[in-house]
Amino acid sequence: MSPPAPRGSGRMFDGIARRYDALNLLASGGLDRRWRRRTVRALALAPSDRLLDLATGTADVAILAARLVPGLSVFGVDPASGMLAQGARKAAAGGVKVALVAGDGQALPFPDATFDGVSIAFGIRNVPDRPRALAEMCRVLKPGGRLAVLELATPRGRFFGALARLHVNKVVPKLGAWLSRGDDYQYLAESIARFPPREEFVQTIGAAGFEDARAVPFSFGACVLFTARRPA
Ligand SMILES: C[S@@+](CC[C@H](N)C(=O)[O-])C[C@H]1O[C@@H](n2cnc3c(N)ncnc32)[C@H](O)[C@@H]1O
Repeated sequence: MSPPAPRGSGRMFDGIARRYDALNLLASGGLDRRWRRRTVRALALAPSDRLLDLATGTADVAILAARLVPGLSVFGVDPASGMLAQGARKAAAGGVKVALVAGDGQALPFPDATFDGVSIAFGIRNVPDRPRALAEMCRVLKPGGRLAVLELATPRGRFFGALARLHVNKVVPKLGAWLSRGDDYQYLAESIARFPPREEFVQTIGAAGFEDARAVPFSFGACVLFTARRPA
C-alpha cells in the first residue's frame, strides 16, 4: 500500500479530483465563482496577452479567463494530473482552448518574461516554499506584468469570524467526509488557520521581487485577493 499523500500535495488533490468542483460549490455556496471572476478582472488582460494560471486544479480560473478575454492564450499548471484531466474535460465540453501542463509552482517550466499575467486561486496555501514559488511567478512575468493571488482566510470580525470558523472547522470537513470519504477537508481548516495574516503575506510578495503589493478582502474577509506587479 502506498503511504498517505502529503496534505495539500498534488497527490492528495488527485484523490478528490472527481468531487472537487461539487465540494467547492457546496462549501462556498457559489461565492467562489464570484471571487474567481474578480481575480481574472484584476489582471486587466488584453486579447493578445498570455496568462499563466498556477495551481490551476480543475482549471476554473483558466477556463473563465479564456471566456472573459477572447483571444487570450491561457496556460494552466498543476502537479495533480487527475485535477488537470477534469479541467481538460470541462474545457473541451465548453469549447474553450487552454493548455494544461503538469508542473510544480516552485520550479516553473517556462522561460523568463513569458506571461502578461499570473493567477493562483486557492493554491498558494498548498505550496511548501511560498517565497520560492512567488519568485518563480515574478521570473516568468514580463516586466510590468500582473500577479493575482486569491486565498481563503478567516474573517476578523468577532461575529463573522466565529461564523466562518464554525463553517470551515465543522461544516466543511463534514461535507468533505461525506462526499470524499476521507479527512482531507480537515486539512482545509488547518491550512487556512496556518496561513499568515494578510499584511505579512503582502510583505512576502514584495520580498519576492514584486511592487505595489496589496490585499483586498472579499466577503467579510473570508477570502483575500492579493495583487502586485513585476517592476517595469
Ligand atoms: C484548492 S485547489 C485549487 C484549484 C483551482 N485553482 C481552483 O480555483 O479551484 C489547490 C491546487 O493546488 C495544487 N498544488 C499543490 N501543490 C502545488 C505546487 N507545489 N505547485 C502548484 N500547485 C500545487 C493542487 O494540486 C490543487 O490542484
